[in-house]
Amino acid sequence: MSALLEVRDLHVEFRTRDGVAKAVNGVSYGVGAGETLAVLGESGSGKSVTAQAIMGILDSPPGHVTGGQVLFQGRDLLTLSKEERRRVRGAKMAMIFQDALSSLNPVHTVGAQLGEMFQVHEGMSRKDARVKAVELMDRVRIPAAKERVNDYPHQFSGGMRQRIMIAMALALEPDLIIADEPTTALDVTVQAQVMDLLAELQREFTMGLILITHDLGVVADVADKIAVMYAGRIVETAPVHELYKRPAHPYTRGLLDSIPRLDRKGQELYAIKGLPPNLMAIPPGCPFHPRCPRAQDVCVTDRPPLFPVTENDGTELPGRAGACHFWKDELNAS
Ligand SMILES: Nc1ncnc2c1ncn2[C@@H]1O[C@H](COP(=O)(O)OP(=O)(O)OP(=O)(O)O)[C@@H](O)[C@H]1O
Ligand code: SF4
Ligand SMILES: [Mg+2]
Repeated sequence: MSALLEVRDLHVEFRTRDGVAKAVNGVSYGVGAGETLAVLGESGSGKSVTAQAIMGILDSPPGHVTGGQVLFQGRDLLTLSKEERRRVRGAKMAMIFQDALSSLNPVHTVGAQLGEMFQVHEGMSRKDARVKAVELMDRVRIPAAKERVNDYPHQFSGGMRQRIMIAMALALEPDLIIADEPTTALDVTVQAQVMDLLAELQREFTMGLILITHDLGVVADVADKIAVMYAGRIVETAPVHELYKRPAHPYTRGLLDSIPRLDRKGQELYAIKGLPPNLMAIPPGCPFHPRCPRAQDVCVTDRPPLFPVTENDGTELPGRAGACHFWKDELNAS
């Protein structure tokens, strides 16, 4: 798949009064047109900060990109001027956030907000923009779009508001969408509907999609591949079904074992012991070692790079890599 976006060795830190928090420490990942990459990891692992650096909306200061490249359609976005970045962000990449209510403007109707996208970016008249707004609302299956176009955000349910956010993101037919926990605030059944809609539109528009979540349950059906993050690093990447079947990193296995599963009803849910590290004092060696059931002496001293993960006989497993000294043992434990 041709790379639409390729992030290379990205580093981001936050310089605060209390010290420097190393939030992103050499992240590399990519997504092609029509492909979905899920980014997974506990709270604080750097999923959102990576996305913000890609979009150019990092809270700066205190956040600073201190290294790496963000190649989008072959151009390194980190070298563009603010104005150029704004243009790319408006037309070619869009972001969907968890909380639609705080992302939408409460004092304007949804029709006005959707229409504004077309007025500002495509120079449409107010009237034509309104027609487009209704079309988009239909597109994301908001019932009675024509009547509801003049309603305000608070008049919609959480699920419907999230559909409006998706409509806003899709308005200019971007090549890339980053969805940061797009369904976390919703009921489980509504979550599935919104996720299905997003996946369907992504296929229809052959957009690249980066889906950030800490819910392994939702990604299985929609993602092509997964990147697992821990303490600002990618610790494992794999095609989605392979990751579920045979993780190569103890942290990934911990995450998998902590999802409720119907076939294990009644059994106690596993929880990874301990807490993610303080980003101002990331442990030496493997950052996961204080919590890892597999840790050995080498883990305390030597930081494992992302090793290519292969079959025992050396057969390549395309797209697979794991940052663990004992990835072979973990892979074979399944
Ligand atoms: N505005 C900020 N100021 C200071 N530090 C920040 C800021 N934003 C993020 N950080 C630091 O970066 C770390 C990673 O944050 P990030 O939001 O990327 O986590 P996440 O993986 O998206 O977690 P969650 O699942 O909770 O959304 C935080 O734990 C925090 O230390
Ligand atoms: S390198 Fe060591 S501590 Fe880190 S995940 Fe692998 S076994 Fe665990
Ligand atoms: Mg986040």
